[in-house]
Amino acid sequence: MTIGNIERLSTGVPGFDRLLEGGIPQGFMVALTGEPGTGKTIFSLHFIAEGLKKGEPCVYVTTEESRDSIIRQAGQFGWDFSSLLEKKLIIIDALMKEKEDQWSLVNVTPEEVVQKIIDAKKVLGYGKGRLVIDSVSTLFLDKPAMARKISYYLKRSLDKWKFTTYVTSQYAVTTSQAFGFGVEHVADGIIRFRRVVKNGRLRKFILIEKMRQTDHDKHVWEVDVEKGKGFVILGKIDEKAEDFRLMK
Ligand SMILES: Nc1ncnc2c1ncn2[C@@H]1O[C@H](COP(=O)(O)OP(=O)(O)O)[C@@H](O)[C@H]1O
Ligand SMILES: [Mg+2]
Repeated sequence: MTIGNIERLSTGVPGFDRLLEGGIPQGFMVALTGEPGTGKTIFSLHFIAEGLKKGEPCVYVTTEESRDSIIRQAGQFGWDFSSLLEKKLIIIDALMKEKEDQWSLVNVTPEEVVQKIIDAKKVLGYGKGRLVIDSVSTLFLDKPAMARKISYYLKRSLDKWKFTTYVTSQYAVTTSQAFGFGVEHVADGIIRFRRVVKNGRLRKFILIEKMRQTDHDKHVWEVDVEKGKGFVILGKIDEKAEDFRLMK
């Protein structure tokens, strides 16, 4: 979709694109930040499934789950990733290092990640594509002071490869603080994922904190992951004081 000369990519999450004037501007790097279990990976799988549906080349770098786990999770929502491997989709596995295959990472350095992504793009074709790095935090967990520099390096090195990119970023469970604060400064957009327990039940929320060149929605939305469907937007939360406290 193109509005005002900006080409926007559908997120593939039903009801979410309209919060972003139609989708993510092509070429953007968007940070998905939040604690574990808030739906960042599943939100990213929607983005990839949507790209595959449109025949776009897609690269997924997974550092916290194996390639098999990503494929199984996608399968639960009706997306067949395995038949598209090496044709339209390459999943770069940074976890199962002992598995020696072309698309596994050995040292998991920023340079190695960038090189593998470029190699993958060359195999898949030169058109506009989608990239997910899940999670980028792995690249600077032991050196948080380098987060901004590494994020900038990723953005700069991948710039000419025509990706629209999601990078997931972890928040510490204890402090709800991002590791390193690097990605948020470099990213063109920030989508914040959050979870709380309310009345004895786990609830999930999402907020678009930043999206350059976009008159984006500013509300906190309750979301969930549903069996057979994936990520769903349930509704806007009421503006009560207790709700504001959910989002630090
Ligand atoms: N098949 C499924 N049906 C219902 N909910 C699911 C299913 N698979 C995963 N989930 C939900 O999604 C959560 C995992 O989301 P995920 O995207 O992996 O989180 P994150 O990447 O932020 O750590 C699980 O904890 C569960 O609540
Ligand atoms: Mg995840």
